[in-house]
Amino acid sequence: MTQSAALPFPQNRTCPFHPPGAYDALARPLSRITLYDGREVWAVTGHTVARELMVDQRVSVEAWRDGFPIPDPRFATGVRDRRPTVCGIDDPEHAAQRRTLIPSFTLKRTAELRPQIQRTVDELLDAMVAQGPSAELVSAFALPVPSMVICSLLGVPYEDHEFFETQCRRMSRGLPEDAFDAGSQLDTYLGELIDRKQVTPGDGLLDDLIRTQMVEGEMERADLVALAFILLVAGHETTANMLSLGTFTLLQHPDKLAELRADPSLWPAAVDELMRFLAIADGLLRLALEDIEIAGTTIKAGEGLVFAPSLINRDTEVFDNPDELDWHRPVRQHLGFGFGVHQCLGQNLARAEMEIALRTLFERLPDLRLDAPAEEIPFKPGDTIQGMLELPVTW
Ligand code: HEM
Repeated sequence: MTQSAALPFPQNRTCPFHPPGAYDALARPLSRITLYDGREVWAVTGHTVARELMVDQRVSVEAWRDGFPIPDPRFATGVRDRRPTVCGIDDPEHAAQRRTLIPSFTLKRTAELRPQIQRTVDELLDAMVAQGPSAELVSAFALPVPSMVICSLLGVPYEDHEFFETQCRRMSRGLPEDAFDAGSQLDTYLGELIDRKQVTPGDGLLDDLIRTQMVEGEMERADLVALAFILLVAGHETTANMLSLGTFTLLQHPDKLAELRADPSLWPAAVDELMRFLAIADGLLRLALEDIEIAGTTIKAGEGLVFAPSLINRDTEVFDNPDELDWHRPVRQHLGFGFGVHQCLGQNLARAEMEIALRTLFERLPDLRLDAPAEEIPFKPGDTIQGMLELPVTW
């Protein structure tokens, strides 16, 4: 393996659907990178090694541990000091917590939610069309679809969406002290919601967890708040980014869109291919707990690992012509939803939302097009989940 100089990571993309050009300098399967605080850690860039390390029990997700990689100053205050929950705890505690959530996210349960997702999508498009023939797609569609769906699933009142969306924005893109304050405000909000639900139960997942976990003494209030927090944040921001960036990408690839129009049965494969191609969660963080010999290298105990799906998903050992969108690839080998025990819990739901929302959007508005030059449309910086800040469209 050749080792490149330690490249600063993460970097901004110059094209929203390709990894930053500077990442070309990163060797596969492992390379050294420098984080904002000057620390050098390992970038995991190769597909096989990434999958091996993701299931290696000597690799931890516990952010409170010394040496855990910190990708940006917001993480240092906003995420690291939070009460650890499902995505930030190792097995066996992780497995126990995940087991309580799995029934709400199975394929069967998600299939039952499809009519409701379709209704939400239809109503949002009705409202958008009524005010048309142009719109800002992030606020009119990409954000409200997953936000409404996760609110209904959890039992969080959608009327409060401006409040929690603002806090999410401050956490992902604000100043570090803002990120911390935003996290605390969201904790307070969810804590009060859980208190109210104990008095007047509803029928969402949070109500189920109060009944089955909190009342039974399996989970403390603070644990449920932390879990509600991660489900609410992970449940809407990521999917919203995929909807905006997915729309932009399809509009920029009219031949690929035409294929989907000609054969709508390709949509499920297209959703996974977009997940591979866009790799919006481009920096999954881990810590080596012991020395690990892999690919002729020793990752030492206490060293940080940053998995880069934008590169892993374009490893030519697994993907032919990886820089091309291709709806006919063998699906689901990508790491867009992660891999191993922490692989995205909400992936079935996210797939259903993306498929229904994107398919309906393009069916309903066959003349959909950008309402500004592509190069003027703002997208999110590299140290966040990738997505569009705004997406002006017309039809
Ligand atoms: C397109 C949208 C989505 C993307 C790209 C995405 C991406 C990811 C990724 C990459 C991971 C693994 C993180 C790691 O290994 O460090 C993850 C985990 C997770 N995701 Fe998603 N996600 C999406 C939608 C959702 C939705 C809708 C939910 C619903 C609540 C959700 C809930 C979670 C949870 C709870 C975890 C942690 C699982 C665990 O640690 O066991 N995600 N997601």
